[in-house]
Amino acid sequence: MSKTNECARKLAISHLNSLPDDILPSLGLRYLTRFYQFIYASASEEIINYKSARCIITYRADSFWRRVIIKTFPSFIMAMLPKIFEKQFRNCLWSNKKHPNPSPQIAFMFSTKKGKGHGSELLRRCNLSPLYVKTIKGGRAEQFYKKNGFNEYEVFEYAKRTYAMLVKN
Ligand SMILES: CC(C)(COP(=O)(O)OP(=O)(O)OC[C@H]1O[C@@H](n2cnc3c(N)ncnc32)[C@H](O)[C@@H]1OP(=O)(O)O)[C@@H](O)C(=O)NCCC(=O)NCCS
Repeated sequence: MSKTNECARKLAISHLNSLPDDILPSLGLRYLTRFYQFIYASASEEIINYKSARCIITYRADSFWRRVIIKTFPSFIMAMLPKIFEKQFRNCLWSNKKHPNPSPQIAFMFSTKKGKGHGSELLRRCNLSPLYVKTIKGGRAEQFYKKNGFNEYEVFEYAKRTYAMLVKN
């Protein structure tokens, strides 16, 4: 296995363990590894690390998911097929919500040793302004971002869930 593929797999395992209920991890480790191979190869995305915390920044949030699907297409179809009739996936596929804000944006963030200050320090080191993040309204992650200087930009419905778009200037 090449070094990049090994890194992609390690990142996929951490992502899967940190966000097990999220849609992307539910497509499985094989697809998640393919997703991170795309991220490593992409000029519009960047991975920022601080100790156990990882942050995936996209500088082209408007086209992020379109590019992910195109670049990982055969793997995406294979991972999606068994899920196509699941409600959570149908909601996402049929939702026509347009991306509400410009980039850069945090696409994903997770920490394998939670509550040790790694995530907050990573955000302090992330020298991007403005920086956006979409998170589930009322969740723990929203509190985490607000404690770290993010403010509410917009609240919206997507795939029948309520999300908050937050921004740090
Ligand atoms: C949110 C997250 C990235 C923060 O990283 P971290 O290294 O734990 O961050 P810090 O130690 O600097 O801050 C801890 C704060 O994060 C918040 N937090 C959010 N989810 C948490 C979780 N599952 N466990 C512990 N703290 C969590 C809490 O507000 C906590 O504050 P508190 O200690 O006062 O309760 C990390 O907890 C995580 O991976 N959560 C699960 C994945 C997630 O929700 N990602 C964000 C959505 S994109």
